[in-house]
Amino acid sequence: MASKTSVPETARREAEGLRRELNRHNRLYYVLAEPEISDAEYDRLYRRLQELEARYPALIAPDSPTQRVGGEPVDGFAPVRHAEPMLSLDNTYSIEDLSEWDERVRKALPGEPVAYTVELKIDGVAVALAYRNRRFTLGSTRGDGVIGDDITRNVRTLRSLPLTLEPQAPAQDVSVRGEVFLPKKAFQELNREKEEAGEKVFANPRNAAAGSLKLLDPVQTAQRPLALFVYAVDEKTGARLKTQSGVLDSLAAWGLPVNPHRARCQDLEAVKRFLQTWESRRHQLPFEIDGLVVKVDDLDQQKRLGATSKSPRWSIAYKYAAEQAKTRLLTIKIQVGRTGVLTPVAELEPVFLAGTTVSRASLHNEEDVTRKDIREGDLVVIEKAGEIIPQVVGPVTEARTGQERKFQMPSACPACGSETVKLEDEVAWRCLNPACPAQLKGTIRHFAQRGAMDIEGLGEALVDQLVEKQLVRDYGDLYCLTADQLVPLERMAEKSAENLVAALQASKQRPLGRLIYALGIPLVGEHAGEVLAAYYPGLSALADAQPEVLQEIHEIGPKVAASIHAFFSRPETRAVVAKLEKAGVNLRQLPEEKAVQGEFSGKIFVFTGELETLTRSQAEARVKSKGGRPAGSVSKNTDYVVAGPGAGSKLDKAKKLGIPVLSEKEFLKLVGEKKTASRPSR
Ligand code: IVH
Repeated sequence: MASKTSVPETARREAEGLRRELNRHNRLYYVLAEPEISDAEYDRLYRRLQELEARYPALIAPDSPTQRVGGEPVDGFAPVRHAEPMLSLDNTYSIEDLSEWDERVRKALPGEPVAYTVELKIDGVAVALAYRNRRFTLGSTRGDGVIGDDITRNVRTLRSLPLTLEPQAPAQDVSVRGEVFLPKKAFQELNREKEEAGEKVFANPRNAAAGSLKLLDPVQTAQRPLALFVYAVDEKTGARLKTQSGVLDSLAAWGLPVNPHRARCQDLEAVKRFLQTWESRRHQLPFEIDGLVVKVDDLDQQKRLGATSKSPRWSIAYKYAAEQAKTRLLTIKIQVGRTGVLTPVAELEPVFLAGTTVSRASLHNEEDVTRKDIREGDLVVIEKAGEIIPQVVGPVTEARTGQERKFQMPSACPACGSETVKLEDEVAWRCLNPACPAQLKGTIRHFAQRGAMDIEGLGEALVDQLVEKQLVRDYGDLYCLTADQLVPLERMAEKSAENLVAALQASKQRPLGRLIYALGIPLVGEHAGEVLAAYYPGLSALADAQPEVLQEIHEIGPKVAASIHAFFSRPETRAVVAKLEKAGVNLRQLPEEKAVQGEFSGKIFVFTGELETLTRSQAEARVKSKGGRPAGSVSKNTDYVVAGPGAGSKLDKAKKLGIPVLSEKEFLKLVGEKKTASRPSR
């Protein structure tokens, strides 16, 4: 171990310089909100200091930025006092209660017409976001309403959070409030990954969002596709505005994400109609809502109505009761995933719930089944978590007959018969046989899925047959399949066999990022695949990368780095990669995958209509040069739409989704090619 005296003078001086610089940048960033350097540059300096301190521990000083909150995992979150308390809402569950509230409101405002704005009540986590000079400076949780936690670095990783507001936003301090949430699909995906990794799953998207925001390592938060909608602004900023609907319009115009589904209602009847519309429509939303929020539209009226210590009198939440159903649990089957995790799945007597017929529900793991005491033959209550995956809430014990069978995890894998084990620190049981056909099927399904190699026609039934008939022993074998081998399989004809061979051929040209994801490296999802592809010129460079080096990549944490290294260290991996290479599968980074880190890192731009001064490719190059990504279609993940004359459906969609729309001129200003001097420079 290095002693104090053995630290070379050059290292001591370098560390001191780095500490000074980093502390200065911390102050610029956190206190003054005037960062001089990019996060990437900050991270580079930070890591250099970490390196020096690791080599010469005597250099670690209490004032070193590595010893307190920074870009790396921290011990906890700093407290933040809210300038205005973050209130909650009163709830109602019935139209009668809502009518009573409306009466109270109108009684308090005698003789005045009262209009309402109704918004969706997003089921997530309340956050306060502060901007100074249009720059994002602080993100905090609600906490107890008075003091919350500083989650700035985690919130900064949210792609829907604009780090800079539009020029029309006020330059003064602005504090907005909103809800951070995890879309249903991302929730499902996260839980699937957790299940595969043998970890505990989240009960619902709201818990998943809360858990993700409170991860001590922002690098991990960045890997969760959290999203944001804002709905309120501080009193001082609001003083320039007249109505809640005007607040929402302004927030959207300033570049903040505002939920497009809202209505201004002249009276309670109109409010009721809006509530009714969403009673069933809510199931079609990509995120979960637990009700609607009715607000008095006029801000002056709101002020006069005031608030109790807990909640405003001018607003009320109309909540939907969780939809549940009762049905019979017939049996518990065991599913073996691609990583060998055994998941108990409940086979249910089919029942209609929240828009679909449910006949299966994941029971997640042994612990869950035992804790809830779920037995085969039980009458059970089910509900939908994230409204997609049905979940068994628990048994109706009063209905038991004594015939119910207690559940036990099998000691042998139901797919290959090999012994199952429960690893330390894991909740899951696993089959450790790498040749287990169930694992192989899962691996191949994963490889072929959309978002990975996207092999059309390679569905579940076909994968099962290919594995069972031993036509493929790994995904490398897929590329040796011929139409002649496929035709004799069930539900295959000459044409479909030829189509599959063509689809396999086409999949050879997928970008490197998709291939990395397709390989099935534990903990490497779609996004991590893209991130890695942006850094490595090809798969072999990634395969040779050491964990320390991998960790230097923004968004790749130590666990993921270790997993990648372990994966490529296996001889089986090397063998299958060699097969892919021999088959002519693209293993190289495509030019468009190479990323630049910059101001727009993680931001997605869509161009539509004609551009007047730039060509489309020049405009896209400008986005890429700052680390952003041009995309072809507008989705909720889009950060900006740049619209020129003739823009059509993409512009409409952007407006509907509340995505900021820029003119070409505004875009040029944003990329720093100012045509006018209206915006302060960095
Ligand atoms: S307004 C002072 N609007 O629901 C009133 N809240 O149960 C501030 N929520 O704490 C809340 N969507 O976290 C408002 N459109 C919306 C909302 C919303 C979700 C959350 C928010 C609030 C909780 C109350």
